[in-house]
Order: sequence, then C-alpha cells, then structure tokens
Amino acid sequence: MAGDVTYSVDGAVAVVTINNPPVNAFGFDVRHGVIEAMNRAEADPDVTCVVLTGGGRTFSGGADITEFGKTPREPSLPDVNTRCETMSKPVVAAIHGFAFGGGLEVSLSCHGRIATADAKLALPEVKLGLIPGAGGTQRLPRLIGPEAALDVIVPGNPVGAKKALEVGILDRVAGEDLLADAKAFALELAAADEKPSALRDREDRLEAARRDPSALDAHAATLTKKARGLEAPLACVRAVRMALDTPFDEALAKEREIFIELMNGDQSKAQRHLFFAEREANKIPGIDRDVRPRKVSKAAVIGAGTMGGGIAMALANGGVPVTILEMNQEAIDRGMAVIQRNYDTSVKRGSISAEERDRRLGRLSTTTDYNDIADADLVIEAVFEEMSVKKVVFGKLDEVMKPGAILASNTSYLDVDDIAQMTKRPADVLGMHFFSPANVMKLLEIVRGKETSPDVIATALALGKQIGKVPVVVGVCHGFVGNRMLSSRSAENESLLLEGASPADVDKAFLDFGFSMGPFAMGDLAGLDIGWRTRKSLGQTAAIGDALCEAGRFGQKTGKGFYSYEDGPRDAKPDPWVDALIAEKAKELGVNRRNISADEIVERTIYPMINEGARILEEGIALRPSDIDIVWINGYAFPIGKGGPMFWAEQAGLEHIVERLEFWHGKTGNPVFEPAALLRKAAKEGSSLASAMAGKDDVA
Ligand code: NAI
Repeated sequence: MAGDVTYSVDGAVAVVTINNPPVNAFGFDVRHGVIEAMNRAEADPDVTCVVLTGGGRTFSGGADITEFGKTPREPSLPDVNTRCETMSKPVVAAIHGFAFGGGLEVSLSCHGRIATADAKLALPEVKLGLIPGAGGTQRLPRLIGPEAALDVIVPGNPVGAKKALEVGILDRVAGEDLLADAKAFALELAAADEKPSALRDREDRLEAARRDPSALDAHAATLTKKARGLEAPLACVRAVRMALDTPFDEALAKEREIFIELMNGDQSKAQRHLFFAEREANKIPGIDRDVRPRKVSKAAVIGAGTMGGGIAMALANGGVPVTILEMNQEAIDRGMAVIQRNYDTSVKRGSISAEERDRRLGRLSTTTDYNDIADADLVIEAVFEEMSVKKVVFGKLDEVMKPGAILASNTSYLDVDDIAQMTKRPADVLGMHFFSPANVMKLLEIVRGKETSPDVIATALALGKQIGKVPVVVGVCHGFVGNRMLSSRSAENESLLLEGASPADVDKAFLDFGFSMGPFAMGDLAGLDIGWRTRKSLGQTAAIGDALCEAGRFGQKTGKGFYSYEDGPRDAKPDPWVDALIAEKAKELGVNRRNISADEIVERTIYPMINEGARILEEGIALRPSDIDIVWINGYAFPIGKGGPMFWAEQAGLEHIVERLEFWHGKTGNPVFEPAALLRKAAKEGSSLASAMAGKDDVA
C-alpha cells in the first residue's frame, strides 16, 4: 500500500485513511493509494462496506495545487471517483475538519457522507479561477438540485455541516465518535435490501429544471452579477447547466476540458498567484514561530469617526471587546448611531441575525476618560490626520496605558517613527492602516517602525487574521504601499483631461481594464473637498479639481462633481458644464487638445503606479512584489483576474513598460515616469522582479 494511504479492517468494514499532512491533498500517491485500497476492499470476501476518511486534523483539502500546470500523472482524481463510485460495496466518506474541492468531489463519489458537527465543505475552485474539475459540477446537482449546487459552486464559500445536512450534501452529522458512526452507517447501507445508487445514476433532482430551466437561469444570473469580467463563475454555470442535457460521462469529459482550459488561461494563473501570495505575505524575516504574539483580549479605539467606528466594528465582529474613546459625548453619540445603523442594515439584509448584532454591540463600550482604557492590550488611534493631534494622543497613551500594551496608529500618510517618538516605548508602537469601510475592506497594512518589536508585528498579524483581514507588513514612508502608489496613478489625471480626455473617457478605460470604478467617479464618491483641503494646506493646486470645488461641486454629496447626479448617486452623467470648464482651463494654460486613446490612459496611470511599486521594492518598503499585489487586490479593487499590478506588469512585459515609461518621461518630464532602477534591471535581464531583487537570473 502506498505510504500516504492506510488500509485496515474492523469486522466487515474496511477503513481507508488518507495520511498526507498538512491537508491530505490528493497528490499522486494518495490517488494511487486510494484506488489500491478500494481494489483490496472489493477483493476481500470478509469486507461488506468501506469507510474513507482522513488522518490527522482533516478529511482533505482537495487536489494538490502544486501539480497544476504540470504534466498530469495517472491515476487522475476522476479515476479515483470512478473507482469509489463503481464499488460493489457501499463506501461512506467520514469527514472531519474540511472537505474542500477534490476532497468534496471524492466524497460525492461515495455512497454516503457523514461529518462531524464542526466540519466544513466547499468547492472553492472558482477562487482559483477554475471550476470543479472532478465531477463536482455533475454530481452535486444530482444530489441537491442544480440551483442549490450553484449556491455552493459559484461563490465557492465553505458550508458548515449543519447547513450541508439541511441541503442534503451530507446524509448524517456524527456524534462524538465520527469513525464509529461512519462504520455503523456503512454497515446499514451494506445490510439494506437495495444498494444505494451512485450519483451518476440519479436524475430525479434534475427533472424540474429540465422541464423549465428559467428559474435556474435567473438564479445563475443573480449569482454571477458580480463576476466583473471573471471567466470562472460563468464557466461554473455552464458546467452545471450541462447536467440538464448532456449525458453524464460526456458531461464529465467536457467539465474536464473546461477545467484544463481555465487552468491554462491568464485569469487562473493570476488567481493562483494571489492564493500563494496571500500565504507568502505572512512570512516576515525575523518573525518565526518562536516569536509569540501578545494576547489581545481587550482593545480600545481612539476616535469614533469614519475609521474609528469601522475599526471598532471589525474588532467586535472578530470577538474582541472594544472601548471607544472620543473627545465628548456628542461625538460618541454620533459615532455609535452610525455603528448601530450599520448593524441594523446587516440584520435587515439577513447577513447577521438580530442576536448576533446584539452580541457584537455588547462588545462595544464608550468613554471620554483615558483611565477607562488603561488596561486594554491594544489601542488603535483613528483621530484626525494631523501630526500635532496624533502626538498629543500618543503622549497621553504613553502616560496611562499598562506596560506591554500595543499602541497602533491608523494614519494614512504620517511618519509612524515620529509618532513612536512621542512615547517612551517606541518598540510597542506600529501602524495598523485599515481601509474604508474598515468593517468590510480586507486589507490591513501593518506598518513596521524602525523600533517596532517583532512580537508586536506578530500580534498585529495574528489579530488581523482573527478579525478576517488580509494583513501585509510594510515599511514607513509617505502613504506606505497603497496610497503612495495611488498618488502615482493619479499624477497624470488632470493632464489627461486638459489634453483632451473627458472624465468619462478615463473612467471607461479603467472599467475596461477591470476596475469597478474609474478615478473620477471614485473622487466624486469620496468627496472632492478632501483632496482640495489637503492641496490648500500643502500649497498645491489642481486646475480642474480646484475649480470644481470653488463652484461648490464636491461630488455625490452635493449632487455634482466631475459628473452630475440629478437622478441619484448611482447615476453619474457626463456634464457639459465640466467639459466647458476643462476646455477653458486648457485654453488658459495653452494646452492643445487632441484625441486620447484608452491605451494612452492606461500607460499614463497604471504604468506610473507600477513604477512606484518598483521603487517601493527597491527601498524595502514592501518585502516582495506579491505583497504589493495583495495590497492592491484587497484594498483598491485591482481586478482579481489580472493578479495585482506587479504580476500584471510581468505578464504585460517589463521591457515594454520601461520603454513606454521612458517615452512619457521624455514627453512630459513628469518624474513619475522615470523608470525605477529595479524595473530597468528586470527588463534588461528578462527576469521577474523578484529575481531582479534577489540579484539572480530567473531560472523558472
Ligand atoms: P474622521 O474625521 O471621520 O474621524 C476622526 C474622529 O476622531 C472624530 O470623530 C473626532 O471627534 C475624533 N477625534 C479627533 N481628535 C481626537 C482626540 N484628541 N481624542 C479623541 N478623539 C478625537 O476621520 P477618519 O476618516 O475616520 O480618519 C481618521 C484617521 O484614519 C486619519 O488618520 C486618517 O488619515 C485615517 N484613515 C482614513 C481613511 C478614510 O478613508 N477616511 C482610510 C484609512 C485611514
């Protein structure tokens, strides 16, 4: 027997156990071992039924994704399924931990499924830009009906055992002893007069949709509405729909074809890159397993404004009790009213229950007195973005907070090292930069100051994960990774308008690139007055942006900005008044207007941002190109199917990007276009950015 799979017999039950830590992935040895074990059970006259289970903490995490993109080795996962499904003796999958992807697909080829109460089941292939490729799209609809199958396959999210039992993916939920219950279940199936039918032979759940697929199609349309140019969610629907009119074996073959086509496509490559990038982002030099995070059982947030309220919610949602400190009762009331309203909306939408809302609200308390937060393990400051205000707050925190408390700032731009100097404990200070709305957005930039101690970083990483964020460790500089690159992306916005593009032209180029919003629609949403005030305080100007604000056009909140919104905030209409303003400013400044192509817009916005990313890498502000991708995917809605700016740049060709940057640098003189040394080096060597950083040629 292959070492990764063990076989034992207990009475009339053969127990086949997958042992391939950490997640019992169905690599070659496991596939081979399971088939061999099934053959052995089939041949053993004393065995009447089989239990298939996972050793260690879990059933199976699915296919071994390190094999993706390599030459496939037989037996394949579909071969494993066929072997289980065609056994003459019933096979029961005994699931604990999780059954994901191929793991769940194999269990669907068994004749019964039982799981522990805390088990989780999922077909998450869509998140890697794929469809389930081992029969999931054909067997699941036969088990629970095509609509319910789409609910599992298109979003790809885990389903708990209770829900899985309700919808019929599971036959039973086990008591204390999964294996004992699974054996009893298998023996029952073996003793029954009629052998349980394999899912390939079941058609009853498909009949309604075969007669009239309109409800299924409508449901599919709702589920894929947010697919935003991603191919995989649509391919999932196509595959499930095949169950209605394509014979089972033919549908399996087509499912496999679609799977392989997606696997070789750019989007899946990008999404697989992001899957690994997110894990890689947790690896921080100098912070290994020996660095223990501090315990955070109580937190405090300073400021109950836009960010403070959202951060307090994020913590409360993750189970951490929080005290919010504000300047006065009025500010507290305002902040709490917003929080209450947000939770009420979630209850109305059905995303949380009223009890859950009350539990979360119960974790929040408020105060105006620093003594009430002195024993918090972590404080996150989210007061006005002014160094003088922040310094006063950190001075005060240094006075009152217990020793060992972590002091974090949510600043967007300010120097975290300067802030730390206001305390006698700079090792306990760091930046924890959340994104708005902080209770929703996944990105958390963890800003490591010069003196921040490793266990403080480890704590922020652990807490970030606990509250469902995607943390990325970054260094101190103006705007850190995300906002600094955003500034470079915006540097040519005004020039593009003056030279002939309309706000709608620029926004359309962004939508076509895959962003869900362009920069001008985004500016209108966020409020143009914010940037205007910042510019005034820094003595900067922007011909068009300033003129709009001077005319009282702050964006959606005033009904007018770069667009007009007379039919509601979602209905941005190009405004001839703005076109005239732009033309007039261009004339004043002596700028000749011409047609501007979508390619030019991308070159003058996205390329500078990539260039800034390369500078950020040179300076060590981000540890690796993939960290930058994670920042942009989770904080700035960079299109997932493009894998993040740095991944996309490599796909688009660094040499081409450097050449175009040089061209625009020559033409405009704008320093955002001056190619970064790292970019030049990688382009010249024909290597990846990561290899150029490591100073070696790309051997991949
Ligand atoms: P805000 O103006 O909505 O809220 C600031 C709150 O802090 C107000 O409620 C104010 O009463 C309170 N406050 C001011 N001084 C205080 C003090 N000394 N003690 C206690 N409370 C005090 O501002 P917002 O947008 O929440 O920003 C807060 C911080 O978060 C800033 O540093 C900002 O740069 C940063 N940030 C903002 C983002 C955004 O999208 N708004 C995104 C990420 C970071």
